[in-house]
Amino acid sequence: MELDVLEKEIFSKLETLEDLQELQKFRVEYLGKKGKITQVLRSLGSLPKEERPIVGRRINDLKEKILEALEIKEKELYEKEKERKKKELWVDVTIPGARRKTGHSHPVLKTLHEIEMIFVSMGFDVVEGPEVETTWYNFDALNTPEWHPARDEHDSFYFSEELLLRTHTSPVQIRTMLKRKPPLAIISPGRVYRRDYDATHLPMFFQVEGLYVDRNVNVGHLKYTLETFAERIFGENAKVRLKQSFFPFTEPSFEVDVYFPGYGWLEILGAGMVDPAVFENVGYDPEEWTGFAFGMGVERIAMLKYGITDIREFVRNDVNFLSKY
Ligand code: PHE
Repeated sequence: MELDVLEKEIFSKLETLEDLQELQKFRVEYLGKKGKITQVLRSLGSLPKEERPIVGRRINDLKEKILEALEIKEKELYEKEKERKKKELWVDVTIPGARRKTGHSHPVLKTLHEIEMIFVSMGFDVVEGPEVETTWYNFDALNTPEWHPARDEHDSFYFSEELLLRTHTSPVQIRTMLKRKPPLAIISPGRVYRRDYDATHLPMFFQVEGLYVDRNVNVGHLKYTLETFAERIFGENAKVRLKQSFFPFTEPSFEVDVYFPGYGWLEILGAGMVDPAVFENVGYDPEEWTGFAFGMGVERIAMLKYGITDIREFVRNDVNFLSKY
């Protein structure tokens, strides 16, 4: 009988269903409006009268059976799907995370911070000044005459006749003294600019200015301060040597070398006793006030500390180089 064949077909096909989508298709194919079972039900009318109830019940029973089986299958497939999704979404929370590479301060900045910490611990304030300066702050107030080579266009970066990139941090001495009353002790870190470029000079580099103003300050105070600094930054065996030199804003003036075991002597800063003419320019009475000042090159100190021979390494932006310090 035709229905037996259909029933067999239905139940063997039901077994092969793999997922809910297939099950839905199957449902439409057999029980949908144009489904095979529906069609058979519709064709009942063409049967002899006495056969109709028998065949009708047979079909309805079959439909019930299919619906029941479908329900079971649907649950089964639903569970299967759930398992599959679970597996797909599973993550191993015990796998160690991917570590992101973190950078660190540039060796010059590290050195700068170290210098700051040493002077702050000695009681110096940290102040800053502008990198674009007027010739008055950069030169005139610092007693630097017209003929001084630093004033030459070939040595400095000018914006106009009276405006330039500061060639040193010394103008911050002037700015500070105009604002504060003595006694005072400050350092001033920052960038300075000169038309230089070779293994020991950069057109932009860092200086730390120092200024101490009080009554009865003498060269001994300056030397003690610099020795303390050298020992703190280079170690106990570091020595300091003052050599007679000249700066328009200090008198006497010194070039200061640091002795570093294994390296020998290296000049790292200029210093001196504040020239009375500078005190006059800021309205301090030179009869009452005395002081010392110094200006150190931060890259030079970093070179010594880390044994770097070419200052240009600092600005090559080579991560391989930088990651070593
Ligand atoms: N400003 C000087 C320079 O840049 C250094 C210096 C600072 C010298 C303070 C004496 C006193 O060369």
